[in-house]
Amino acid sequence: MKAIAQTEYGAPEVLELVEVAKPTPEANEVLIKVQSASVDAGVWHLMRGTPFLIRLMYGGLRRPKHPILGSAIAGEVEAVGTNVTQFQPGDRVFSDLSESGFGGFAEYVCAPETAVAPQPTNLTAEAAATVPVSGVSALQALRDVGQLQAGQRVLVIGAAGGVGSFAVQIAKALGAEVTGACSAHKAERVQQLGADRVIDYTHPELTQPAQPYDLIIDTAAYRNFADYLPALKAGGTYVMVGGSTSAFFRAMLLGPWLGKRRDRQIKCLTATPKQADLLALKAMIEAGQVTPLCDRTYPLSQVPDAIRALEQRQVTGKVAIAI
Ligand SMILES: NC(=O)c1ccc[n+]([C@@H]2O[C@H](COP(=O)([O-])OP(=O)(O)OC[C@H]3O[C@@H](n4cnc5c(N)ncnc54)[C@H](OP(=O)(O)O)[C@@H]3O)[C@@H](O)[C@H]2O)c1
Repeated sequence: MKAIAQTEYGAPEVLELVEVAKPTPEANEVLIKVQSASVDAGVWHLMRGTPFLIRLMYGGLRRPKHPILGSAIAGEVEAVGTNVTQFQPGDRVFSDLSESGFGGFAEYVCAPETAVAPQPTNLTAEAAATVPVSGVSALQALRDVGQLQAGQRVLVIGAAGGVGSFAVQIAKALGAEVTGACSAHKAERVQQLGADRVIDYTHPELTQPAQPYDLIIDTAAYRNFADYLPALKAGGTYVMVGGSTSAFFRAMLLGPWLGKRRDRQIKCLTATPKQADLLALKAMIEAGQVTPLCDRTYPLSQVPDAIRALEQRQVTGKVAIAI
């Protein structure tokens, strides 16, 4: 089968279109004929092997342990292992492979059945493939870490990004009043996602709003988290989703102490793939509450271009890979 693989860490040029053996499912796995995959910030961090912490988390200190990247996929079950009970050949599924060895940028991949869920019935495979990593991260940031309640005011920073574009819509679906912050030229798309208000990153209300927020979801973390404390209500919560390793460590180490002093909560997201959350998103998508914002679709051979576009902030929402 065809796949995009790498034997060393580096820029998109390290990725090559290669022929590799088609995988065979273990007893608890399904073999998926991948129809589409998507690209997220995690993909280019793994491709480059930066920040270094990512090498410790996923193995491969000197060279990649998983030569075929690609976490979020959608496709059709082609075969099932002997112990699989939830799926059968022909089922349309989507999955996050980041805890089962990646491998999504390929014509076929195997995944444990517990990492897989039926695709939303109203999406193309390209659109469905954009959901598993970014959608689940947004859901877990808002619902689990942020403990969002209906009627609360939320600020989503990076609202035109992969996680952010889902966060805006999920927050609306959970009954929040949503402000999205993004680059000025992407504002119209964020408005179309249903944000009640859109501001650009330079707007003074980003850190000093007329009315403070109950929850801030920060997918970019290009400013110090402490800058946002005045923008939170007493008892409000800031959730760091993205950002550099040093920003994350600062928030993890200093956040609880500083937050307590100022009666605010500073938290960090560690997203985990969960079948139940894929099912929760499927329900929101089928109810028309969430629609993936797909910018462009690239063929498998152009995965390097897709990653380049994402790294250079040329993407609004998500990019898909058609396989
Ligand atoms: N903690 C976790 O478990 C977890 C889970 C998923 C993702 N993440 C992290 O979350 C981050 C976002 O992921 P993603 O896939 O949504 O990435 P993405 O699609 O590339 O979106 C990133 C967003 O950040 C904004 N941004 C980036 N650099 C910026 C800067 N210097 N100044 C202002 N805004 C900036 C961009 O704004 P514009 O589009 O407006 O230009 C873009 O909307 C990444 O760092 C990723 O590694 C963490």
